[in-house]
Amino acid sequence: MTTTAQPTATTARHRSVGVAHTRVEGRDKVTGAARYASEQPFADLAHGWLVLSTAARGRIRAIGEEAVRAMPGVLAVLHSGNAPRVMTDYVSLLGPPDPTNALFQHDRVPHIGWPVALVVAETPEQAREAAEALVVEYEVEPHDVAFHADRPDSYVPDDGNAVLTKGDLEAELAASAVVLDATYTTPEQHHSAMEPHAATARWDGGRLDVLDANQGAMWVADELAKMFSLDPSSVRVRSEHIGGAFGSKGLRPHQVAAVMAATVLQRPVRVALTRRQTFAVTGYRSPTAQRMRLGADPDGRLRAFGHEALNLTSTLRPFVETSAALGRVLYDARAHHTAHRLVDVDMPTPTWMRAPGEAPGSFAVESALDELAERLGMDPIALRARNEPTVGPLSGLPFSSRDLLGCFEEGARRFGWAERDPRPRLRREGRWLLGTGTAAATYPSGAAPSTASVTAEADGTFTVRISAADVGTGARTALTLIAAEALEVEPERVAVRIGDSDFGPAWVAGGSMGTRSWALAVTSAAAELRGRLALGDGEIPPEGITAHTDTAGLLAELAKKERHSFGAQFAEVAVDPATGEIRVRRMLGIFAAGRIINPLTARSQLVGGMVWGLSMALHEEAVRDPASGSHIGADLAGYHVAANADVPVIEADWIEDPVPDDPVGLKGIGEIGIVGVAAAISNAVWHATGVRHRDLPLRPDRVL
Ligand code: MOS
Repeated sequence: MTTTAQPTATTARHRSVGVAHTRVEGRDKVTGAARYASEQPFADLAHGWLVLSTAARGRIRAIGEEAVRAMPGVLAVLHSGNAPRVMTDYVSLLGPPDPTNALFQHDRVPHIGWPVALVVAETPEQAREAAEALVVEYEVEPHDVAFHADRPDSYVPDDGNAVLTKGDLEAELAASAVVLDATYTTPEQHHSAMEPHAATARWDGGRLDVLDANQGAMWVADELAKMFSLDPSSVRVRSEHIGGAFGSKGLRPHQVAAVMAATVLQRPVRVALTRRQTFAVTGYRSPTAQRMRLGADPDGRLRAFGHEALNLTSTLRPFVETSAALGRVLYDARAHHTAHRLVDVDMPTPTWMRAPGEAPGSFAVESALDELAERLGMDPIALRARNEPTVGPLSGLPFSSRDLLGCFEEGARRFGWAERDPRPRLRREGRWLLGTGTAAATYPSGAAPSTASVTAEADGTFTVRISAADVGTGARTALTLIAAEALEVEPERVAVRIGDSDFGPAWVAGGSMGTRSWALAVTSAAAELRGRLALGDGEIPPEGITAHTDTAGLLAELAKKERHSFGAQFAEVAVDPATGEIRVRRMLGIFAAGRIINPLTARSQLVGGMVWGLSMALHEEAVRDPASGSHIGADLAGYHVAANADVPVIEADWIEDPVPDDPVGLKGIGEIGIVGVAAAISNAVWHATGVRHRDLPLRPDRVL
């Protein structure tokens, strides 16, 4: 399939989907007409600045509020002694609340970076100066931020999916001709979205109005209503333009702080985070330690597939990085044992970060498969083909569609895999050793109930309203194409309005489920509208004709199959054995991800994930000082991400992947681009040098 830009579908009336389309809001973004959360003007706007704990554990003894209140422009200092009380025993759209958001409710400090106060002033500069001058005294207690594979206090989380087992792993390992038992580690990683978090809250005629950047306006509105005991109809959250999210933009302390301050002061209050603060209060990916135990017959058939994944969480809330989940889908084996463990430390609670689970999990699984292939003397792709399941290896459910092998076949052809000599450390180019590697990718293709409305306007255009979020992916444009196709009109006649909780409940931009969930709602509302228009006399009243739908009923049937995207990642690297420098020279990802809605933005989404995978392989690592519990270099100078010079030619493409029983046929492409990339690169480094790496990132000092 081609990814070349084509003219928009003005002639091909019913083929909006699958035709490249630039972003509908692209012009607004590049001209500055699109306003992001911290750019909304309000007369009388006050500015809040969060004060974060410098103690890694303990209790607040005193807050030097008086001195700061006398500083220029200061309007209020909120802290556990004076802040409004909030509810904490509710269940939101995404489960129980994160205790970190219950700001200023007690004097305990569970970790470094815990919000201890909000200073509000007339200008952001005054707020910042006063916040930095605020003296907070702590009663400090010993803390523990150590993460390693052998913590004796690790435990199995209370979660039905933590451990899944089939057959007898130990017996199958004992019966295997070739066994691999290896532990892989990945470090703490941060989202670092280009737009740092910001929110403005105000009371507007008895309604709480929040201008925010989030992955689900409805989700944040629901949480704020419950937390502040407000009627759901009296909370409105808007989040139209978002500069990246990646799992970090849900409800976070800054929105709660803004609402508290707006309530206390009765004027609009904005709380914007600095880059440094985002490292402390917007979540991160936990480090992982993952033990892989694989056992195979001489022909490569897996007898045993064992994956035990450990991650850390805070003392506040168990967060499971589901690293062991992808093996439950990828490979058949006589015995499976996939398990998650947690260890509680005095650190902030981790959260979802692009391809939560699958990103670190695929490093372990896909590196281990490559090591096993080496021991078996088998081609790594042939080993994967040998263990291809026909039904879900643990669920026994049929796949809605599965074409992992098609991805490998197309990828191998385009990458030139057939010419590869499997032996390591054979290719040289001057000081560089060259090698290639591959890995499989998969990510679930889910959907959740959503509502949408579509209005036929009197002027012949259509307006779609859905509380969807376009976090920068092009989701709004994809929905425009989907609606145009469903309405059988040109995309230019469709306006899609998103990011407003007043549009009703809808799933969040997360888990690669956004576009699929919203597409189901938009297409079904469009179908209903067309039905109503067909029955009418052709006259449209001034207020238009609107159809609403809710997809809750649709989804139960679709859940009876394994639904996943698949992909094959390929990488070529050059390694300088004198300096340990790794240069990735080329990458190719071929995906089977259902129907591709907009080739232009889909490609960019997949390439973006692959760049992140490269960054994860070579650079990303948040380092904590055990003595303070604090980050060393919590900014984009200290936390290295791939820069332009690191990024080679990257190609992402896809094969046909029809999903006949799915009304929209799309699978979601938000996460799969990153999955498997770090393993493909690490496997290529082995092929270049003959040295295996089981710890990320592949820093020069580790390569040497
Ligand atoms: Mo994504 S990490 O599910 O926002």
